[in-house]
Amino acid sequence: MTKLIFEKHIAEANTFELPPLEVPEVGLSETVPEHLLRENATVIPEVSEVELIRHYTELSNRAYGVDNGFYPLGSCTMKYNPKINEWASRLPGFAQIHPYQPRETVQGAMQILYELGKMLGEITGMDHFTLQPAAGAHGEMAGVMMIKAYHNKRGDFKRTKMMVPDSAHGTNPATANVVGFDVIEIKSNDRGLVDLDDLKAKMSDEVAGLMLTNPNTLGLFEEEIQEIAAVVHEGGGLLYYDGANLNAIMGICRPGDMGFDVIHLNLHKTFATPHGGGGPGSGPVGIKDFLADFLPKPIVIKKGDSYSFDYDRPDSIGRVKNFYGNFGVIVKAYTYIMAVGSEGLKDACQQAVLNANYLRYHLQKKYHIPFDRLCKHEFVITARNQMESNHVATLDIAKRLMDYGYHPPTVYFPLIVKEAMMIEPTETESRERLDSFIAAMDEIAREVRENTQIVLDAPHTTVIGRVDEVTAARSPIVKWEE
Ligand SMILES: Cc1ncc(COP(=O)(O)O)c(C=O)c1O
Repeated sequence: MTKLIFEKHIAEANTFELPPLEVPEVGLSETVPEHLLRENATVIPEVSEVELIRHYTELSNRAYGVDNGFYPLGSCTMKYNPKINEWASRLPGFAQIHPYQPRETVQGAMQILYELGKMLGEITGMDHFTLQPAAGAHGEMAGVMMIKAYHNKRGDFKRTKMMVPDSAHGTNPATANVVGFDVIEIKSNDRGLVDLDDLKAKMSDEVAGLMLTNPNTLGLFEEEIQEIAAVVHEGGGLLYYDGANLNAIMGICRPGDMGFDVIHLNLHKTFATPHGGGGPGSGPVGIKDFLADFLPKPIVIKKGDSYSFDYDRPDSIGRVKNFYGNFGVIVKAYTYIMAVGSEGLKDACQQAVLNANYLRYHLQKKYHIPFDRLCKHEFVITARNQMESNHVATLDIAKRLMDYGYHPPTVYFPLIVKEAMMIEPTETESRERLDSFIAAMDEIAREVRENTQIVLDAPHTTVIGRVDEVTAARSPIVKWEE
């Protein structure tokens, strides 16, 4: 078991020495009010430089990321991020500028903000973008605030409800709720798609809109999207697109053409920024022209060859983030799009869909598949067969995968499928890698039948085995106490 850095502390190690004072010494009590002074000296661990380096290197070796291996976390698009994006975002001209610098000294950065908005507009079929939101959920909030502002501006205050399908990501109902809407759940039909009859029955003049992702969280394309859009629009509502799944359609079709009025994208998924660990991410929001007045301010405008910010927007929902968004992530997305070009984006999408269908085809030989048809960039299988034959659950299979060196897929989501395993290989994986993952899953299916206990007790190769997941999530101990 690794010790904490505090436990490696050696008293009197004398690991650092401050140079002699060059100014008169001033007692703390003379400068800091008495009640703010510490009662006891704080413990700062003292270890030698080499031990410090070894400690953090050891910890970093334990982290599993897409640079270590296959990471098929469905709904998360954990694709490989080309290193050129990192290089570009760290160029001193980008990394060392300050948002308070005079505009004329940051024209290049403003050009990137402006052009990325235009490129995302082209990719998605939307008219304007804001790059301020710092994550997908944050983008949802900004987008749904604009929907609310639109109805309010028209004096249509009755629309207090937001429709969300039962397969939606949890952030959708949470966003609607945070912005002040009551959530109406729309059922999925037996094909895993929005139940059009249920949608029609629930659409009313109290509904502000529908939040939808396409393909949905089962990886299935909403084939009736045009009918869905018509129902919502004819009822006076707006259509919100959760663009977390754009990787499945980019370069092929566009949410703007499907009838969506407001969308968000996750640059940290589709547009190749490393993803996870809480950020930084970026969730730009795109809108159709008729919503332009409500965009968060400021927006970047171009006059002649020069860029400036427009703050004079009286109907704006206001600022949703300090300054102009997570600029480093914006530079990475810009670099990625410029590097691969429009053909490259299309190719990435097609490879992602091909890889998902290749895995789906092979894995369904041993695992139950609730919706047996072509998927987009991800798909859902379940542990139903293993449950019925040997009482082995999805969680056991996910844990056992770690012994085979794989990050488990998303489990128990979407909520409408029991024992769900949601798998998204992404476009960046080779056929060899997919085959070795299939072999591991096949081997686990065999173990379930012939050596059940090894699966039930997994993982066997990690530093910590099974934890009480609920306690670990709800009451994590993240503080060291002496
Ligand atoms: C379908 C879907 N919508 C929204 C989100 C929220 O995005 P973020 O994690 O960037 O807030 C996610 C994140 O995984 C998602 O999968």
